[in-house]
Amino acid sequence: MMVNEALPSTISRVAIVTGAAQGIGEAIALRLADDGIDVVVNDLPKKRDQLDSVVKAIQAKGRRAVAVVGDATVESDVVALVDAAVKEFGSLDIMIANAGTIEMKPLVDMTVEDWERVMSVNALSVMLAYKHAARQMIKQGRGGRIVGAASMAGKKGFAYVSSYCASKFAVRGLTQSAALELAEHKITVNSYAPGIIPTGLTQHPDDEKNGGPCSTFLLGAGLPPSTPSAPPTVVAELVAYIVKPEAHFLTGQCLSIDGGIVMG
Ligand SMILES: NC(=O)c1ccc[n+]([C@@H]2O[C@H](COP(=O)([O-])OP(=O)(O)OC[C@H]3O[C@@H](n4cnc5c(N)ncnc54)[C@H](O)[C@@H]3O)[C@@H](O)[C@H]2O)c1
Repeated sequence: MMVNEALPSTISRVAIVTGAAQGIGEAIALRLADDGIDVVVNDLPKKRDQLDSVVKAIQAKGRRAVAVVGDATVESDVVALVDAAVKEFGSLDIMIANAGTIEMKPLVDMTVEDWERVMSVNALSVMLAYKHAARQMIKQGRGGRIVGAASMAGKKGFAYVSSYCASKFAVRGLTQSAALELAEHKITVNSYAPGIIPTGLTQHPDDEKNGGPCSTFLLGAGLPPSTPSAPPTVVAELVAYIVKPEAHFLTGQCLSIDGGIVMG
């Protein structure tokens, strides 16, 4: 089964990035703009101001951008997001299902609400983004790129983040199935699996006490304080490659970018 090459380079492509107000999502949105891609950035309504700043930064690079607030776990919001991309910019060629959250808690204290919240933001939202992006791309008939946020915690269990690990393993399974189903439409489906990236997600109120940025997360996960970290731009660079037309032979993969924490 071959995944075909994408569009002629004369046609500009349109991307959606969920959870793009900050962190890895913001870095991906800015990086895609550098490659001439127009971007629809999404995040929760409370992040409106940050999203507007991302839009301005993309426009300053000479690309088109629009902010669409909405909850990536709500199907009608995801439908509205895809519709907005098509209405504003004429198509949807790239979906980056990046929105995510984490809960650090011992398994023995976990509630059903804790579990459902993390699974909803990290796994349900990815399914909805994949589904509605795929529907639009199939309708367009010119292929596409679908990418989801997994994690090193989607390849290996870590202590005290069991709901997070389960949700990221789910993203890998979903990505593999979607890649098989969508190959005939020339749509590739992949995910990225970052290691320690200092963002809002890896911050904790006890960080100062525990030795600086990400220290509480490292402590909880049983990783040494010397564990390497990298800025969000490093992940964005990998995603920029995954969505290139030239990456048509890459599909169904979960690509580690973690300084070597998980190998193979
Ligand atoms: N930071 C890391 O070390 C790391 C490592 C591995 C994987 N990841 C994954 O990368 C992705 C981005 O993480 P980040 O580090 O930039 O985190 P972050 O907390 O800085 O950003 C996540 C963004 O997602 C948004 N979001 C949360 N729920 C949402 C929803 N329901 N609808 C729309 N937006 C929503 C948040 O408002 C936030 O702006 C996540 O999926 C995360 O699990 C991060």
